[in-house]
Amino acid sequence: MNVFKTHLALNTFLEQHAPASTGLVPTMGALHSGHLSLVKKACDENDWVIVSIFVNPTQFDDPNDLKKYPKTLPADLDQLARLKEKLVVYAPNEDDLYPNNTTPKNYPLGPLATLMEGASRNGHFQGVATVVHKLFNAFNPSRAYFGEKDFQQLQIIRQLVALENLSVQIVNCPIVREASGLAMSSRNVRLSPQQQQKAPLIYQTLTTARKNKTTESPQQITSDVTAFFQNHPAFELDYFCIVDSKTLQPVERFLPQQENRAFIAVKMGEVRLIDNIKF
Ligand code: PAJ
Repeated sequence: MNVFKTHLALNTFLEQHAPASTGLVPTMGALHSGHLSLVKKACDENDWVIVSIFVNPTQFDDPNDLKKYPKTLPADLDQLARLKEKLVVYAPNEDDLYPNNTTPKNYPLGPLATLMEGASRNGHFQGVATVVHKLFNAFNPSRAYFGEKDFQQLQIIRQLVALENLSVQIVNCPIVREASGLAMSSRNVRLSPQQQQKAPLIYQTLTTARKNKTTESPQQITSDVTAFFQNHPAFELDYFCIVDSKTLQPVERFLPQQENRAFIAVKMGEVRLIDNIKF
């Protein structure tokens, strides 16, 4: 499996193989089965697959979170090498993607970028949009794969593609969970054994909330969830909201023709975890 540090070298290599189609899977590494599900889908649907591994500095508003982000490149490459012959990895240094400076662009992303994760993590989605746009420009992929684990990010990318009139097809992939229900995340390895035991409560809260949908209003469910976490000091609830799946705007009542989703972000000690569920 070929691993490239520059997009120019990767493109020169791919040109020699004249791919019929290319699938791009952007990641920040520390790969787990969630990431691999995206890569497998890309392998099934494309001639060649590019997996990028880059911890993007412009999407972190917390320098400590950036510093502590797990880096496991040798193990990542091991996992990828087993998946497909026609798979290449792009693992650049910062200057290949940010040759001049690491200032994110300022896309008119609208309210999508300032709700939920956008409200809690200042500038996060401008950083995500900036790096993903750079990757799209560098490789001009036929398709790009994103997980519903980061559902808001997925909507932001769709918005970016529309704004910039890009030809890439965005493919969404379902959330992969541990047997306990905990959504897989590169950050899970930072949880202590005690925190790991309690973390499945996050998904249990979401499934309970979904069950209560038939008898309770969105406001009632939200205050139940808030009260639940107030009684569990291992968790610090950042937000829980029930929103319209398309606009991500909070809903006041459940309407039969509307698709809703509940989103949650909690901190366990220093580790911030997010999850969501279709209602
Ligand atoms: P990262 O957190 O590494 O995630 C890379 C991709 O894997 C994202 O599309 C994410 O939604 C998906 N993913 C992560 N955990 C998943 C799970 N349990 N089930 C399904 N998919 C999962 O998201 C990023 O990196 C960055 O913001 C990036 C898009 C690479 C830009 O820097």
